[in-house]
Amino acid sequence: MRAAYIERLGPPDAIRYGELAPPAAGPTDVLVDVAVTTVNHVDTFVRSGAWRTPVTFPFVVGRDLVGTVSAAGPGAPGFRVGERVWCNSMGHAGRQGAAAEKVVVPADRLYRLPPGVPEADAVAVAHPAATAHLALNQHGRVRAGETVVVVGAGGNVGSALVVLAVDLGARVVAVASAGDAGYCRSLGAAAVVDYRDPEWARRVLEHSPGGVDAYIDAAGRNDVAAAVPMLAKRGRIVVLAGLRTRPVLPVGELYLKDCSIHGFAISQATTAELADAARTINRLLAAGRLRPRKVAWLPLSEAAEAHRRAEAGELHGSRVVLAVAGAVSQTPPAVGGAVPQTPPAIGGAVLPAPLAGGGAVT
Ligand SMILES: NC(=O)c1ccc[n+]([C@@H]2O[C@H](COP(=O)([O-])OP(=O)(O)OC[C@H]3O[C@@H](n4cnc5c(N)ncnc54)[C@H](OP(=O)(O)O)[C@@H]3O)[C@@H](O)[C@H]2O)c1
Repeated sequence: MRAAYIERLGPPDAIRYGELAPPAAGPTDVLVDVAVTTVNHVDTFVRSGAWRTPVTFPFVVGRDLVGTVSAAGPGAPGFRVGERVWCNSMGHAGRQGAAAEKVVVPADRLYRLPPGVPEADAVAVAHPAATAHLALNQHGRVRAGETVVVVGAGGNVGSALVVLAVDLGARVVAVASAGDAGYCRSLGAAAVVDYRDPEWARRVLEHSPGGVDAYIDAAGRNDVAAAVPMLAKRGRIVVLAGLRTRPVLPVGELYLKDCSIHGFAISQATTAELADAARTINRLLAAGRLRPRKVAWLPLSEAAEAHRRAEAGELHGSRVVLAVAGAVSQTPPAVGGAVPQTPPAIGGAVLPAPLAGGGAVT
């Protein structure tokens, strides 16, 4: 099978594209024919070694996939050959990655894709939306009626945070660039504050008269000195980005209001937590309420280029979708009001056919 893999940790051009022996499935595994995969910030950290996790070489890169079931072990009941499925937790902790024609996925990490949902939509939102679900539920413990501040609301994780928080019944104050204000409102944010406004913290408070119940920073700004005074009693700050930030914490103000700060990484999530997130993601995908803002298509053979662009910060709100050559898409035309993600022409790359109807080749 063809795969994008590394034989040593290193820069994007350490990624090779070529033949590897197909993986063997165990009794509780499902063998998946991959249609699409993607590239996240964390995939570049795994590839470079910036984040250390057990890998064996040759190591297939990538975390997320959408494809069809090719075979299911006796301990993976309920998965039928030909069924469309997705996964967002390969490529770390000893598991090989998703950027290959065939991937063996443990059954408890694999979810069915609802009918009609474009594969590119699912693969593009799987990681940011699962991150948002963990931030809101496991770590932020957000409840209906609460006020949630989302910092970085125009980004991949931030926009998913807005959609999922609104779905929980929370009121969202988005902190985003002025150019993203309309986008954040279209996702359901009640108010948007420009992150470049020197008075941004005061403006957030103007929109949060009872104080902020959860402050979630998906931009890695981590200005806890500004965030703590905004918090209501028992308010929570959730941090998930900004590896090297060293913010100043107003400790007294934090503990005198029973407030707390929680950090997390999706790579530490349990399979039960990921499955819980997957149920919400599937429901919102099927309803057409969770979609990537923009998709940039590349063939799987361009995985190194996709890593380079992600690492160089060239994606600007686009999600790269890497298409496996020859994979047959079962994606029908857009449903539920979803806008079809027609592959744009990018950098002279060989592009897959548009999602034009049943049986389109991607
Ligand atoms: N802990 C975890 O489990 C986990 C999981 C997934 C991702 N992450 C991390 O989450 C971060 C975000 O990922 P992403 O894919 O959402 O990135 P992204 O799409 O680039 O989004 C980042 C957003 O933050 C905005 N921003 C930049 N500076 C800001 C500021 N000072 N205040 C408010 N917003 C600001 C950006 O706006 P502009 O366009 O104006 O710059 C952009 O919209 C990354 O660091 C990633 O590694 C962590």
